[in-house]
Amino acid sequence: MSIPYLRAAGTSLVLDARGTGVPVIVHWGADLGDLTGELLAALADASVPAISPSSIDVPLRLSLLPTLTEGWSGRPGVSGFRPGRRAAALDLRLAEVRAGGLSETDRLLPGTQTLTISLTDAAARVAVRTDLELSVEGVLRLRHTLTNTDVDPAAAPFELGSLDVILPVPDRARELLDFTGLWTHERRPQRSTLGHGVWSRESRHGRPGHDDSYLMVAGTPGFGFRTGEVWATHLAWSGDKRAWAENSALGCSALGSGELLAPGELSVASAASHTTPWTVAVYSAAGLDGLSARLHPWIRSWSTIAGPRPVVLNTWEAVYFDHDLPTLARLADAAAVVGVERFVLDDGWFTGRSDDRRALGDWFVDPVTWPDGLHPLIEHVHAAGMDFGLWVEPEMVSLDSDVARAHPEWVLGGVADDAAGSGVGADAGAGGSTSPVVTWRFQRVLDLGNPDAYDWVLARLTALLTEYPIAYLKWDHNRDLLAGSAHRQTTALYRLIDAVRAAHPGVEIESCASGGARIDLGILERVDRVWTSDTNDPLERQQIQRYTSVLVPPEYLGGHLGAATAHTTGRTSELSFRLATALFGSAGIEWDLTRANEGELTQIATWIARYKHLRPLLHSGVVVRSDPSDPALELHGVVAPDQNSALFAQVALAAPRAAVPERMRFPGLAPERRYRVAQLPLGAPPRTIQDAPPAWLADPGAFGGAASGVGGGAAGGSVTLTGAVLALVGLPAPLLAPEQAALFTVDAID
Ligand code: DGJ
Repeated sequence: MSIPYLRAAGTSLVLDARGTGVPVIVHWGADLGDLTGELLAALADASVPAISPSSIDVPLRLSLLPTLTEGWSGRPGVSGFRPGRRAAALDLRLAEVRAGGLSETDRLLPGTQTLTISLTDAAARVAVRTDLELSVEGVLRLRHTLTNTDVDPAAAPFELGSLDVILPVPDRARELLDFTGLWTHERRPQRSTLGHGVWSRESRHGRPGHDDSYLMVAGTPGFGFRTGEVWATHLAWSGDKRAWAENSALGCSALGSGELLAPGELSVASAASHTTPWTVAVYSAAGLDGLSARLHPWIRSWSTIAGPRPVVLNTWEAVYFDHDLPTLARLADAAAVVGVERFVLDDGWFTGRSDDRRALGDWFVDPVTWPDGLHPLIEHVHAAGMDFGLWVEPEMVSLDSDVARAHPEWVLGGVADDAAGSGVGADAGAGGSTSPVVTWRFQRVLDLGNPDAYDWVLARLTALLTEYPIAYLKWDHNRDLLAGSAHRQTTALYRLIDAVRAAHPGVEIESCASGGARIDLGILERVDRVWTSDTNDPLERQQIQRYTSVLVPPEYLGGHLGAATAHTTGRTSELSFRLATALFGSAGIEWDLTRANEGELTQIATWIARYKHLRPLLHSGVVVRSDPSDPALELHGVVAPDQNSALFAQVALAAPRAAVPERMRFPGLAPERRYRVAQLPLGAPPRTIQDAPPAWLADPGAFGGAASGVGGGAAGGSVTLTGAVLALVGLPAPLLAPEQAALFTVDAID
């Protein structure tokens, strides 16, 4: 046990836990094969580096929790102080290494290897326990628990500055990928080359934010979706956080991540402990797709998703705040006719909510619009064969609301005297209020750390879920906190969702934060869907879904068919492109279907039927993406775990670079098996700019006969080739006009 060696699914981890210092990660990366104790000792010994001139007089090795005490002058793993005393680096000593030993509250998945490392600094009266897990899929999780071991209740607390997970990566992992973005443009990839120093991404939004770094990936130069070695970390946390890559001139490179704590935010009292969120760390020798191939099955192994993802109709872009029973009943009827399975009533249903300036927090059904409550609408929805979902934003409050007037002390950051009391103007926070906290979308945050506010909002949610047969909550969060403790608010949020789920286990939850501003593995443990972005523009969505799905499996990613002209961009897209884009996720509609024409409704009905047929594949398969040489053309797909079938999309984002574009190469199939490839029609065919299609698509029967593949009903030509040929040589692509997508079914015939 002094040199623990964990191996799973092509990944391994070797620690040197000999001696009395903090254990060192000797290796995190590719599987090193069967190593005996003797060979492990040789590896650990051989990993001790030279001592460089003008340096500390012992070899510098990055430990699990590096600090100045070890001679590490990069970002420390832990920092803090006791009031009245100067902050000093901890001098942690190894107390124990144990296999197993996670606390009882932790779910442990079958086959997971675990390690618990206990460290103490007796003089500082601090202990740290590090939990490590390696799942059967090769996903590594780490977290620390810091305990103030001073049992004297009168003693000063330990003021925690930071407690982070730091993992070494080899020097060759010098190219970085992380993400940024903004509202309706989430998950924009950004690449950089790491020189000496720190590339650090920090979120102080009180939620990860639209610009969330999401994943911090370090890889070998030029890594892509299918190639290169990559090491990636993600913090499973929905509050403030930071993620960084560091390349020290001392000769160590590392990825770090942890909760971002404000000064004084976290005091660890005598005999108390603080446990960090998990850092999830993944290695792949096969590029970004290799990360997804580990992360998706692992997430699926603990996912709360219980059944097939229903087709949703969300009312937001159809009616916004204009709610009335006849209009919504007509919309529900139109939805039911095309095959929608869940009708979700978005914002606008509660007392006085006529626009986005008021009423958040007053979670009572508006008595004017709904004199008989929501019952008539829900009964109508049920009679039409759908279940019912409701939008809420439990963490928020409008200053112009009964609840803020009654309890200004529940508003995070406080409310100025002129803004509380009666008759608060909608703009009071932005204009008239002297509160130091600026409004955002004219709203403020409810202080969930206040037990009364927490109890009240839980009681309102419980009342709604008890009175109405609600299958689904769309749980929104539309502003940055900008006040209070993000830690306190985030832990209270988790408690609140957990309490709602415990009391109403059948109710599904979709997490939304102005679209995709809170997509992380902390929230994902608690919800069944995330709203990927507020944009339904398929061109934006292609990129957002492509990159969001590196971490999150597609069945979580809400994707809606919107109106022809996207409300967020003003761009007009053809129906077939919108359908092909929304298909690859948890599909839905956000469009006033009562305005769609007969032809459109027929295509939508066909699309929904296809989706229902395809979702077992789309929501269990392996996500694959090509590395295009022409950035205007992207191919992505989902391959069944048994490699019997697959669905691919060839997407033209813009005009191609060449008159005849590069071939479509289909990754992820079994090299030796033979597959029939055929185009899947989905409503109207995609618009092309070709005088004639590629030969294999032109002539039914010429290359192996017309197909009836995973989608059923394929038309046109098809071809039968081996998985190796399809991956290595590929097939000529149809000449798609810009902003078009063609779908292809791929079915094994042996
Ligand atoms: C922001 C969400 O992202 C939208 O989908 C919609 O639910 C609105 N909030 C409602 O206010």
